[in-house]
Amino acid sequence: MSGSYRVAILGATGAVGEELLTLLASRNFPMSELKLLASPRSAGTKLKFKGSELTVEAVTPESFQGIDIVLASAGGSISKEYAPHAVAAGAVVIDNSSAFRMLPEVPLVVPEVNPEAAAQHQGIIANPNCTTILMAVAVYPLHQIRPIQRIIAATYQSASGAGARAMQEVLTQTQDILDGKAPKPEIFPYPLAFNLFPHNTPINAAGYCEEEMKMVNETRKILGVPGLRVSATCVRVPVLRAHSEAINLEFTEPFPVAEARDILATAPGVKLVEDWEANYFPMPIDASGQDPVLVGRIRTDLSHANGLELWLCGDQIRKGAALNAVQIAELLVAKNWLKPGSK
Ligand code: A2P
Repeated sequence: MSGSYRVAILGATGAVGEELLTLLASRNFPMSELKLLASPRSAGTKLKFKGSELTVEAVTPESFQGIDIVLASAGGSISKEYAPHAVAAGAVVIDNSSAFRMLPEVPLVVPEVNPEAAAQHQGIIANPNCTTILMAVAVYPLHQIRPIQRIIAATYQSASGAGARAMQEVLTQTQDILDGKAPKPEIFPYPLAFNLFPHNTPINAAGYCEEEMKMVNETRKILGVPGLRVSATCVRVPVLRAHSEAINLEFTEPFPVAEARDILATAPGVKLVEDWEANYFPMPIDASGQDPVLVGRIRTDLSHANGLELWLCGDQIRKGAALNAVQIAELLVAKNWLKPGSK
C-alpha cells in the first residue's frame, strides 16, 4: 500500500463493501493500512486487494483505534452502534446508511453538487440514498442555470439496492421459474423475478414509502432548497444492478432542450447517451460498472411549456453508493478536511 491514510471498511463483505475495495484499489487511494470489518460470521474470510489477501475481522468498539477514515456500509443499526466509537477514536465516518442523513450537523454530500458541505462535518458525513444521488448529479447542472421549481420522479430500482443476498435472490428465483418451480421470496416480500412492485419500505400517512421520502427530503438538503417540491414513485424491478429514473422537472420559464443537452454533455459525473434515430438511450446494463450517471431522452414536457423530461440510469453500487463515498474520502484528503469543522 502507498500513502498515509489508515482506512477501515465496515461491511466489507457486502455488495457495496466489495465495490469499495475495488474502487480504493483502482483509484489508488493513498492508504498505509486497510482494515476490513464485518459481522462475526465473516471473521477470517480473506478478500483480495491489489494482488494480496486481507483478512476480515469481526467489528468491535475497539476496531477503530488508529483509523483515519471509516467507510461504513453495514446498515443503519450497525452504523448507529459503531459510528460513535469510530468518531471517539478520531476517525471520520463516511456512512452509507440512512441513520444520520437528516441530522442538521451531518453533511449530506454529493461531491459534484455540494462538496463544500463536507468541510462542516463533526466526524460523520452521510452518503445520500442511491436514487437521490443519481438524480442530484443529473439535475443540479440544470438547477444552476434555472432554479428547479418542482421534480416528479419515477424510479425503476435494481435488486442491488437491497444488498448482495437480494441480487442472488433474483437469480435463484429466475432459475426456479425457468425450472417450473415456485419462486421463494426471502429478502424481498414478493417474488421479484419476472415481476415488479412498489418499493418495499414502510409507508407514511400520506401514502409515500420511506424510499420516496428520502428522495424528497435528501434532495432538498443536498440542493439547499428546503421547500423544493418533489414527489416520487419508487419501484423495484428485476434488474441486478443499476437504477433507472424517469424525471420531470418544472422551471419558471422554458428550458430549451438544446441548451439542457449542451449543459449535461459536459456536466461532471454525467454522460449524455442519446441516439434518437436508433432509439438508443441509457439502459441499466450499460450503466452497470460505469462511474457516470447516463442521461438521455431530454425533451420538453408536452403538457407544460416550462417542463423538461429526462431519463437516467446509474450504477447503484458505484455512484449510488461506493463511488460517492470514495469521492467524499478523496475530497477530504484533497482539501485537508479530515479534522471536524475544518472550515
Ligand atoms: P456479513 O457478510 O458478515 O454479514 P449487503 O448490504 O450486501 O447485504 O452487506 C451487508 C454488510 O454488512 C456485510 O458486509 C455484512 O457482513 C455487514 N453486516 C451485517 N450485519 C453486521 C453486524 N452485525 N456487524 C457487522 N457487520 C455486519
